[in-house]
Amino acid sequence: MSVHKCVTRRAFLSASAMSALALAGCAAGSENQPAETPEATEATTAISVDDLPWWKKSIVYEAYPKSFQSSKGAETGDIAGVTSRLDYLKELGVGAIWLTPVFVSPMADNGYDVADYYNIDPPFGTMEDMDKLMAEAANRDIKIVLDMVVNHTSNENAWFVESSSSKDNDKADWYIWRDPAEDGGAPNNWRGIFGGSAWTYVEARDQYYLHTFLPEQPDLNWDNEAVRKEVANVFNFWRDKGAGGFRVDAVTYIKKPEGLPDGDAESDGFAPIHNATANTPGILDYLHELRDSTIAGTDCFMVGEANGVQASELSDWVGESGVFDMVFEFSHMDLDGHDASWIDAHSWKLVELKDALSATQANTAANGWCPVFFENHDQPRCVINFFPEGSNTDQAAKCMATVQLGLRGTPFLYEGQELGFANVAWPSIDYYNDPSSHNQYNAALAKGHTEEEALACVHRFSRDNARTPMQWDTSNNAGFTTGEKTWLPVHDDYATQNAAVESDQADSVLNYFRSMAALREGNDILLAGSYEEVAHDHEQVYAYVRELDGKKVLVMANFTNEEAPLDDLASQLTDAATILMDSYGDVPDVSSVLRPLEARVCEL
Ligand code: GLC
Repeated sequence: MSVHKCVTRRAFLSASAMSALALAGCAAGSENQPAETPEATEATTAISVDDLPWWKKSIVYEAYPKSFQSSKGAETGDIAGVTSRLDYLKELGVGAIWLTPVFVSPMADNGYDVADYYNIDPPFGTMEDMDKLMAEAANRDIKIVLDMVVNHTSNENAWFVESSSSKDNDKADWYIWRDPAEDGGAPNNWRGIFGGSAWTYVEARDQYYLHTFLPEQPDLNWDNEAVRKEVANVFNFWRDKGAGGFRVDAVTYIKKPEGLPDGDAESDGFAPIHNATANTPGILDYLHELRDSTIAGTDCFMVGEANGVQASELSDWVGESGVFDMVFEFSHMDLDGHDASWIDAHSWKLVELKDALSATQANTAANGWCPVFFENHDQPRCVINFFPEGSNTDQAAKCMATVQLGLRGTPFLYEGQELGFANVAWPSIDYYNDPSSHNQYNAALAKGHTEEEALACVHRFSRDNARTPMQWDTSNNAGFTTGEKTWLPVHDDYATQNAAVESDQADSVLNYFRSMAALREGNDILLAGSYEEVAHDHEQVYAYVRELDGKKVLVMANFTNEEAPLDDLASQLTDAATILMDSYGDVPDVSSVLRPLEARVCEL
């Protein structure tokens, strides 16, 4: 076995590799300390595949219906469009589709502002369309997972309309109302997540209501039992219709701290609401109640969007005494700190990504399970987010596919990820629909940055990067609609990055995803095996071993644009080791140097 060795890691990592990493945000010299280092290399527990419920063996595919497929030549996609693509998703190996919200909504935040939880928003279709989607999906053994937005509603929801009409109506206490401060201003200094005060005044009550996100998204008062009961009714309505699971939006914010105290003000005079309200003690009592009164005892699963829950807290949230089957925990998605401010995002180094992923693994090893995700509708494309600037995005997409489908947990793919979609860079802020892009742009200008710098951070982090129309073929508007217009521009790379072209190309990103999905589906070690990170100090390569009943699989991925020697990894490779998958496709020697962005899966 030939193994490329070098003297020290630092000696090997060339200056150009270092600067490429730094440009991408992944800096070899970052000062930031990982939060969970001690657990990072502990092995997780293996269990038998037969013991796994369906959702632990499935790949979940997140579809953003507004951008997935129009069935009727419209600017936006619809439910029938998703139904028309079920065969494509089946071929990809998908076992469940998470649909972002399709309920009646004025679309201030693209459906995350629900005006009526019991009906479908007309541009998305009808209840019959939803019934048909569920039935057609079931025929293909695919479940539909619905997105429940219950921290807040739309301000056009009948509940809020009634609540805001007076102080003494039946729903007067369904939202969080407070009297003005002595000077008539907002009751406290919290800044909403999308910018500006988290409070909006309503004359009819001479009071302010609280909104964690936009003013059009008033927060429900979960301390009110009637609210909690109605939320459970909403879940049960959709459970009884046949939903296979629920993603619970922004769930860490549902409980507010007693007295709603001011936070530490930043330079704009506001304190971030996230710091004040995320994961407030007592929240889990409400969530246990929700689980017990909805999906307990069924085979539905519930995954929470748990921004603000640390990996070390996962055991309270998932597993035997937890409330969720999985939670989206974001430490690996926010290594650059962009969650707080896009313009202030900083560089990071590969070891921090390893630490974050390993901490999630370690904290769900003996108890619980995790989703494995690198993209969603709120995040930039992973080929830009995790790899050096200027990387070959197809190679980066395959590298990440290997890491994602090799890890322990349920992979959540986001539409377009399987085609290697990259970010967009539109010429002005006026092109952007996403409200947070406008807020972050304005915040950057307010901090004294130029328009060019402000736009650059929007290019890098805008949520619209993930929301451009799906690219199905080379026809007009990439086959997303037969109409002339699309609600967001189609990415200009659609001639190469589309489902039809990639289906026919043996070495495409799509076919690589299909192969990795098939490998995972047929490999008990990848489905149920334990996880142990190896070669932790390797600055270019993330590597881990999965193990079940004494059998092992090694996954290694070079995150740089330089060749990476195996170094300590070579000691993992027995003489009998064989390659199960290689992202370059040409199956080199099992122990050969990893080429730029190359990922390899080996049976040991
Ligand atoms: C979640 C959603 C995001 C939405 C926000 C408010 O973070 O993923 O898209 O804007 O909640 O509902």
